[in-house]
Amino acid sequence: MKILAIESSCDETAAAVVEDGRKTLSNVVRTQIPLHAVYGGVVPEIASRAHTEAITAVCEKALSDADLTMEDLDAVAVTNRPGLVGALLVGVSFAKSLAYRYHLPLYDVNHLRGHIAAAYLQDPALKPPFHALILSGGHTFLARVNDYTDFTLLGTTRDDAAGEAFDKVARVLSIPYPGGRELQELADAFHGDEFYALPSPALKDNPFDFSFSGLKTAVVNLAHNLAQKGEKLEREKLAASFAHVVQEGLVDRVGNVHAEEAIETLVFAGGVAANSGLRRALGDFCEQNGIRFLPVDVSLCGDNAAMIGAQAYFEAQKGAPAPLSLNAIPRAEVDE
Ligand code: KG4
Ligand code: ZN
Repeated sequence: MKILAIESSCDETAAAVVEDGRKTLSNVVRTQIPLHAVYGGVVPEIASRAHTEAITAVCEKALSDADLTMEDLDAVAVTNRPGLVGALLVGVSFAKSLAYRYHLPLYDVNHLRGHIAAAYLQDPALKPPFHALILSGGHTFLARVNDYTDFTLLGTTRDDAAGEAFDKVARVLSIPYPGGRELQELADAFHGDEFYALPSPALKDNPFDFSFSGLKTAVVNLAHNLAQKGEKLEREKLAASFAHVVQEGLVDRVGNVHAEEAIETLVFAGGVAANSGLRRALGDFCEQNGIRFLPVDVSLCGDNAAMIGAQAYFEAQKGAPAPLSLNAIPRAEVDE
């Protein structure tokens, strides 16, 4: 089954052709990051407009890269939740018109399930059940994947997503948006043995949930306090201190889930999963505990449509196509 998948939930306009949920025939991502970088974050109205301008060419390229035409396809799929509603609507409307024009079934895909499904492209032998830790600019959660379309949300963030904290700390250090990678490079360059004291993103009153807003605020306050005292902010030390508490916090949460329900395989995905320090820390923990660690390839961590096409195949095996009244839904968890 060949599916043309479309993704426009945030700041990447993406289209891909995926066969049977596990084989990428093409994967086109046009990022809008340069448009948003001047504002230090994604501006929803600019995102919608840029999706509208890009979507036709991105879909045409996905077809031509796969050496296919619309007549060769079996279905169209689109991310319809969660995300920026105006951005989602561009993809949803475009996908609906293609499905109508070419008499193809249309499948709606939850973006968060898509991030997990990137793992099926990475390892075509992977089958549920397994566990997944997803960290992105908008979402942060730990889930058990019971089956391809059956998820149990185990832990989630009470406030900000991990990516928001990375972007905010990068901003404090005057690193341009999105600053995750450069922040890690700074952290890796730190060779001291004493960190700034920062709060953990692992909540104390719950074993599985996260909180990143306190950490974010603590970094901002630390920078202000040092400036007021006329003391120098050590950039590498701050980046390393932040990386340290985030790594420890994530390992703590995964450890608590492992103690509760013996994780066999841990999939690690979402934009922030491209972070080399986090990959190292979680990889070490998994190795020490006999867990198979499956970090999704960096090329599939950030938003893309191949992951949407992968999940769409499994949604198609289980459920009916979406009606042409399909709408965009700004908020949804992985199990919704
Ligand atoms: O999954 P994604 O592409 O979009 C959403 O669905 O939100 O994630 C984007 C987020 C941004 O916050 C970006 O700064 C972060 O992923 N990110 C990173 C790295 N690369 C991207 N964070 C930490 N380290 C990285 N190497
Ligand atoms: Zn995403």
